[in-house]
Amino acid sequence: MTILVTGASGHVGRAVLEALVAAGQDVRASSRDATKLDVPEGVAKVSADLEDASTLEPALDGVSAAFIYTRPQGIDGFVKAAEAAGVRHVVVLSSAATLQPDAAQSRIAALHHAVERAVAAGSFASTMLNPGAFATNTLAWRADVAEGAVRTVYPDSRIGAIHERDIADVAARILIDGSHDGQSLPLTGPAPISFREQAEVLADVLGKPLRVEELTVEQATEQMLARGWPPEVPPSVLGAWARTLREPSLVTDVVREVTGAAPRTFRQWAEDHRADFS
Ligand SMILES: NC(=O)c1ccc[n+]([C@@H]2O[C@H](COP(=O)([O-])OP(=O)(O)OC[C@H]3O[C@@H](n4cnc5c(N)ncnc54)[C@H](OP(=O)(O)O)[C@@H]3O)[C@@H](O)[C@H]2O)c1
Repeated sequence: MTILVTGASGHVGRAVLEALVAAGQDVRASSRDATKLDVPEGVAKVSADLEDASTLEPALDGVSAAFIYTRPQGIDGFVKAAEAAGVRHVVVLSSAATLQPDAAQSRIAALHHAVERAVAAGSFASTMLNPGAFATNTLAWRADVAEGAVRTVYPDSRIGAIHERDIADVAARILIDGSHDGQSLPLTGPAPISFREQAEVLADVLGKPLRVEELTVEQATEQMLARGWPPEVPPSVLGAWARTLREPSLVTDVVREVTGAAPRTFRQWAEDHRADFS
């Protein structure tokens, strides 16, 4: 049976695709525009939009398990299409925001929660992946890094930055095994690491000095909006970062529990992404 990976052009989706292919699975990759997908040999490509149910039938035909991004718009259409196609397991890339104590006030949590709720109500098995902050967020530093700087709010905020390959390895294991039905899995990297420490690691891996310049909350908000982040995102994200200055940030051992391997460090992530900063 085939496993469908939606968002196969995304950082996590692409890594899920690669993990499944490495495990010898029959995989179908989807994007809203399949022509832009560059997939390993033998992987079928299909155009599908999670917000447009009319595009989902061909994508889901013959599919036993699916990996999806959270698109609240149209999620009911996806659930119906998956049920009609006889999909047995859906793995959702959600967010740790839905598990935070302030989830009821968080717009990010609400968006992800809407998808979690709809998928959990489907007649198939389902698993929610709830990662904290991605290590890939530091790709937003590229232009500053080129100028020898890392400009960030709260440089001493510590997060359990997770490598996209660890999220993908967890997703692949579950898609293959059909395990963890009904579970929400909080995923993090191996240890909290501050933005200042991330800059130090990056400087070391890239072999160039990087000075850390602290942004105000207003500057950081402006920067996030300029990067195209939706307006509801900066308050939630900045609030979560500020909290880690006062409280220990979340670190779990779930990656190891599911995959049997320790989560990758930020140094490993920086080494894997050295070319992205050149
Ligand atoms: N960044 C973090 O720290 C963080 C933390 C926790 C959770 N998350 C979750 O992870 C997501 C980001 O993952 P990522 O880094 O892999 O993202 P990414 O690299 O930006 O890729 C996003 C993917 O979403 C797909 N997509 C967008 N709209 C779609 C639609 N209507 N139908 C089908 N696919 C659609 C895109 O596919 P096409 O454009 O090819 O259609 C693309 O492949 C966030 O949106 C959030 O839900 C992020």
